[in-house]
Amino acid sequence: MIDVNDVNGRILYEDDDHKFIWLGVDDVDSSDEIQTMQYLIIDHNRGVLLDPGGVHIFAHVVSAVSRYISLDNIDVIFYSHQDPDVSSGIAMWLGITKAQIHISSLWVRFLPHFGIVDSKRIVPIPDDGSTIKISENAELQCIPAHFMHSPGNFNLYDPKSKILFSGDIGAAVFDEGKEYVFVEDFAQHVPLIEGFHKRYMASNSIVKKWCERVRAINPKIIAPQHGALYAGESITEFLNWLSNLKCGVDLM
Ligand SMILES: [Fe+2]
Ligand SMILES: [Fe+2]
Repeated sequence: MIDVNDVNGRILYEDDDHKFIWLGVDDVDSSDEIQTMQYLIIDHNRGVLLDPGGVHIFAHVVSAVSRYISLDNIDVIFYSHQDPDVSSGIAMWLGITKAQIHISSLWVRFLPHFGIVDSKRIVPIPDDGSTIKISENAELQCIPAHFMHSPGNFNLYDPKSKILFSGDIGAAVFDEGKEYVFVEDFAQHVPLIEGFHKRYMASNSIVKKWCERVRAINPKIIAPQHGALYAGESITEFLNWLSNLKCGVDLM
């Protein structure tokens, strides 16, 4: 069960100039929709928002962000991929911030279907990735994670905090009231992630390559868009489990 204090989020990393914040959970009844998690990176009082989501959670995310930074200071919104739970609020976010949107080049022409979008504010991420400079000495890395599950899909790695935002990778689906913030017992967590990864991820060859890439990065935390965060031993356990998973076309 998630503590009521966690409705306000948690600071996952903090130094004098830099923060990586989990923005908590919405306390509205969400039995009919997939629960999402949003994150905020602040560097020298400039903000980067990760997968802020759609209409349904807009008010919650705006109030969560506003606890940490003024909306005027959000310079970048990163979308891992094109799904509605990630990016369907784009027109509202463009309206209340001055941010530029970073998303896979595959999805740029689809975003206007979510509302009126100024294409000059969209920065397409090329297939082999990019970096986003957020201050004089801070840069975020857009790490390719294609076909996991979207064909144009990116993770965002923050080298300062060593946190990898993994989008849908690592996502869990909890029973109502059974949520937790960090994975403590990976074996118990597997039933919550197995169905999603088997059906949505493209193939074992694809997920294996991603696991190798993430092992090389060696993040301290893997922070997905749904479910719970991985740190320490649970990262190793998750990567070992995923790299051996038969999924997608392996099973169809
Ligand atoms: Fe998705
Ligand atoms: Fe998602």
